[in-house]
Amino acid sequence: MYPVNKQNALPSSYVPEDLVPLTSVRTTTANQRLRRLVAPVLDQLLTAAKAAGHDLVVSSAFRSYAEQESVHAYWESTLGKVQADRQSALAGHSEHQLGTVVDLTSASVGFQLEESFGDKPEGRWLRENAHRFGFVISYPAGKEAVTGYAYEPWHIRYVGVEQATAIYQKGITLEEYLRTLR
Ligand code: DAL
Ligand code: ZN
Repeated sequence: MYPVNKQNALPSSYVPEDLVPLTSVRTTTANQRLRRLVAPVLDQLLTAAKAAGHDLVVSSAFRSYAEQESVHAYWESTLGKVQADRQSALAGHSEHQLGTVVDLTSASVGFQLEESFGDKPEGRWLRENAHRFGFVISYPAGKEAVTGYAYEPWHIRYVGVEQATAIYQKGITLEEYLRTLR
């Protein structure tokens, strides 16, 4: 539940000590890792998705400070700073550095990360079911003023079933939920 957003960063040296490789799931890029607690839960989510007829594929999981720095620099050089900052966190400010976050995609969007994923059966299933496994959609549609980021129907963060379900049922973002706890 640690707040990682445009205001709050992680230390640049922070790397979770219990990262494990994602060996049994499909990924678009090799060598994806998540924290030991989260990897089996992701397996459960992907298995349930499959049983419901949806093939979800991991695009990106843990990203180190240095990896995020180069991802952000790429987007800034491609899109310019204003647009890059709407969709890519500065190094230290990415939830991906927590090791509890994963981007999922599917064949229906050509294994890309794009907004239309939210309208595909896979994206709709994820929006309605992620909380059952303890994941939230960190950057929902229409919440850019709250989260600082454009809609990312593919980016899910593990916070535990109880918290994720409360957030889902209230129809609020993790950001807003954390504020209610303060
Ligand atoms: N795309 C999200 C905001 C990140 O860069 O962590
Ligand atoms: Zn992401």
